[in-house]
Amino acid sequence: MYFESHAHYDDKQFDKDREALLTCLPTYGIDVVINSGSDLKSSYIGKELAEQYDYIYFAAGIHPHELYDISDAVLEEIRQLTMHKKCVAIGEVGLDYHYDTFSKETQKYWFEKQLEIAKLFHTPVIIHSREAAQDCFDIICKSGVNKGVIHCYSGSPEMAEEYIKMGFYIGMGGVLTFPNAKKLVEVAKKIPLERILIETDCPYLAPVPYRGKRNDSRNLEFVVKKLAEIKGLSPSEVANITLKNGENLFFL
Ligand code: NI
Repeated sequence: MYFESHAHYDDKQFDKDREALLTCLPTYGIDVVINSGSDLKSSYIGKELAEQYDYIYFAAGIHPHELYDISDAVLEEIRQLTMHKKCVAIGEVGLDYHYDTFSKETQKYWFEKQLEIAKLFHTPVIIHSREAAQDCFDIICKSGVNKGVIHCYSGSPEMAEEYIKMGFYIGMGGVLTFPNAKKLVEVAKKIPLERILIETDCPYLAPVPYRGKRNDSRNLEFVVKKLAEIKGLSPSEVANITLKNGENLFFL
C-alpha cells in the first residue's frame, strides 16, 4: 500500500525498539522503505537493514552537514555500496545553507562529486536542499543527472515544475500537514500526483497529530490523507499511485 521513500531507521532514536518496529511495519501496509544514508556509517547500517528485511532498500551518500571525514576514498566506498543489489540511490546529497557547518564551496564541491557518480552509473539521487534552492537546481542541471527525488521539497511551484521536466519526482512528508504549509500545499495542487513521492524523514518531521514526537513510517497515512484531500481522491488511490511512482523511480 505505502511506499516510504525516505526514512532513517539507522538513527539512534530507534536503538531501543528498532527490531520490533521494523518487524511490524509491513502489517501496517508499509510495502517498501528506502533507508536514506547521511554518512558512511548510516549508509552501511542501511545496507545491513536491507539485508535483514525484504521490504527495506537503501541509499548511500554523504549529507551536506556530514562532510567531516569526506575524501575520495569515502566516495569510492559510496560507489562500491551502490553496486549492492538493494542499493537504489545515492543520497541523501545536496546543499544546506541553514547552518554554516561547512562552507558553500565545500558543500558544492562534494555534491558535484557525488552527482558525477550517479551520472556515470545511472543511479537515481535523493536530494536534500535547504535554503539553497537556486544553487541546488543549477548544480543538478549542470550535472546532467535526470533521475531522482527532491526530498522534503520546500521550493516554489515553478521550480517543482522545472524539476519534473528534468525527470525528477517531488518528495512530500509531514510538513504538508502543518498549518503553515501553504506553499507546499500550493505545490501539491499544481503538480501531477504521478510525480509525487511520499516520505516521513523519520525520526524527524512527524505529521499532525504527532508533530514533535518521534516519527515512523506508520504515520504516512496522515500524509496520504492530506494529499487525498488536496487532489480530491481517496487515500487508497493516493497510496497506490505514489507506490507506483516509487517503483518507477527506484526499481525500473
Ligand atoms: Ni533525511
